[in-house]
Amino acid sequence: MATGSLVTSDLLQRLGAELDAETLAHSERTAELAVQLAAHHGVDPERARLAALIHDVADCYSERELLVLAERYGIDISLTEARVPKLLHGKIGAEILRRDWGITDDELLDAVRDHITGGVRMGPLARVLFVADKLEPERDRHFGGLDPIRQLAVVNLEARGGEPRGGDAEALRLEDGPADWGGQAAR
Ligand SMILES: [Fe+2]
Ligand SMILES: [Fe+2]
Repeated sequence: MATGSLVTSDLLQRLGAELDAETLAHSERTAELAVQLAAHHGVDPERARLAALIHDVADCYSERELLVLAERYGIDISLTEARVPKLLHGKIGAEILRRDWGITDDELLDAVRDHITGGVRMGPLARVLFVADKLEPERDRHFGGLDPIRQLAVVNLEARGGEPRGGDAEALRLEDGPADWGGQAAR
């Protein structure tokens, strides 16, 4: 993978060392789609690529470890996160990136923080990451038939994809709460 100004060879090397193969592959697929979406939505593609590559940096932690880290970093835990600690990997990841990876781009850190469940105050970069994370090609294994939503995402990141075709399709709604898809889509 070629490196750009933000995605350095050192960063790629660290990612390769710290992420398991499955998470790394997911992050690379997410980055590829994030770059495409960024180009359509006025977001710097290199920032989108970086955000996507590092968004799951805390996905490797167990639920117990995530809870311990949340307490160590002073991160508030919602009732839903206490019930499904895996949902904390966005918040924990943002904190790790700030503390240990030297990432100072607050908008990028916000995007990582919100990438799991989204939020009504997400900026353009966060929206690009959120959608790319949910629509990267392998998601079809869990949520079949995503191509129409991918085409829609190029036009409008806030679109809801028309009439949902079942519970799984509804998982793509930005306003959905974590309880709706905290399991299989939590990566
Ligand atoms: Fe994730
Ligand atoms: Fe992800």
